[in-house]
Amino acid sequence: MSSTVIVGTQWGDEGKGKITDYYAKNADHIVRFQGGNNAGHTIIIGEEKYQLHLIPSGILRNDKKAVIGNGVVVDPKVLIEEIRGIEERDIDTDNLVLSDRAHLIMPYHRELDGIEEKSKGSYSAGTTRKGIGPCYADKVARFGIRVCDLYNPDIFKDKLSKIVPIKNNILRAYGNNSDFEVDSIFEEYLNYAKILKKYVDDVSVLLNNAFKEGKNVLFEGAQGTHLDIDHGVYPYTTSSNTISSAACNGTGVGPRFIDEIIGIVKAYTSRVGTGPFPTELKGETGDLIREKGGEYGTTTGRPRRCGWLDMVMLRYSVRINSITSLALTKLDVLSGMESIKLCTHYEYDGKRVMHFPADIERLRDYKPIYKSFKGWEETLSDIVDKGYEALPEEIKTYIKYIEEDTGIPVKIISVGPKRSETIIRD
Ligand code: GDP
Ligand code: IMO
Ligand code: MG
Repeated sequence: MSSTVIVGTQWGDEGKGKITDYYAKNADHIVRFQGGNNAGHTIIIGEEKYQLHLIPSGILRNDKKAVIGNGVVVDPKVLIEEIRGIEERDIDTDNLVLSDRAHLIMPYHRELDGIEEKSKGSYSAGTTRKGIGPCYADKVARFGIRVCDLYNPDIFKDKLSKIVPIKNNILRAYGNNSDFEVDSIFEEYLNYAKILKKYVDDVSVLLNNAFKEGKNVLFEGAQGTHLDIDHGVYPYTTSSNTISSAACNGTGVGPRFIDEIIGIVKAYTSRVGTGPFPTELKGETGDLIREKGGEYGTTTGRPRRCGWLDMVMLRYSVRINSITSLALTKLDVLSGMESIKLCTHYEYDGKRVMHFPADIERLRDYKPIYKSFKGWEETLSDIVDKGYEALPEEIKTYIKYIEEDTGIPVKIISVGPKRSETIIRD
């Protein structure tokens, strides 16, 4: 039995989907534990490209269970569309499991997401507007609808009849004239309930039994550590805990069962949405990385802000997540640059700053201090078959620095979006 958690160490889009798909070959269950369809995980298999938002990347391997845990917020409309999209490509979805405790994104959550964003002005995080924040807010306020409610129609209708008028009042206070109706939401969601029924199960029981049977479980994180609601750049974060410990809360598994925690780190940094970004490159180099790296949002299509790798952020992620190994992705994007940089620490008022502050407004005044590394010319996909030793010395120097600074081995090196463009170090 083994269990591994995959987490993003930056602001999301580090390549979690690709690495999850790679590791899924040795897992029996692949489990999402937080977030919702704000996530966009791209996996390329042969000539086929898959973009998953809610369904765990394990669905693409037929013999595995793909599990959506209680910590995920589920928009049933989106889930059903995603299931249909996958089935159209001849992939079996019978192995999908949906937690009966997961909270549901309702139409008023999506509406509120957009309206709240507008009213927040400079504090808006630039959300994906999928209703994620308002759904988690209702969960914490004990005003949410869960998957299990769909199968108790009297209770479901009773809850809706209390919630919907209040949401309409809130929306009106924002100057919005859309009026949600209890009956139409009730009918719409009961239809979703029929379609989803066969997938619904108790995920905690399922996974704890799996452990007893010696099965391997892979937890697939969404977003990244610096988008975490507690440990990220609040308020420019998402609304869930994105870090490794959330794998427990979000599935009903105790921490004793977690063996490995793999932190995914892109060889540079990207960010969709607003908020401070100390190593952001606003000029030509940032544009070059964005174009070469295809840094456009999988969920919203927005151009991602790009910058150098930030070791202050990475050390923070290693600590918060108890990372046991790192996967370094998208090194190929930096090929052909004369030199590359990483930020070792910040400087403020003549002093070295080694840690990320709680008051992120301070980040705007912190000056990132860089270390330069010699670049490399090689096209890495051409040499990937030869393994780690064949990589250019300049890359090995870059990797060695990251390992020494974090104290964590870089065990996986990704040099392209395909499964085959991956190097595993022993
Ligand atoms: P996730 O949200 O962390 O799963 O990442 P995304 O899928 O949103 O974004 C990562 C993008 O980079 C996707 O388009 C992947 O296909 C692609 N990708 C992943 N690893 C690599 C890599 O090593 N090199 C290159 N060039 N692309 C990669
Ligand atoms: P994956 O799993 C990158 C960002 C949004 C916004 C903030 C809050 O693909 O790495 P939300 O809709 O969650 O309330 O938006 O979080 N964000 C992501 N950025 N990758 C993601 O997911 C993201 N999910 C949310 O851009 O700044
Ligand atoms: Mg993504």
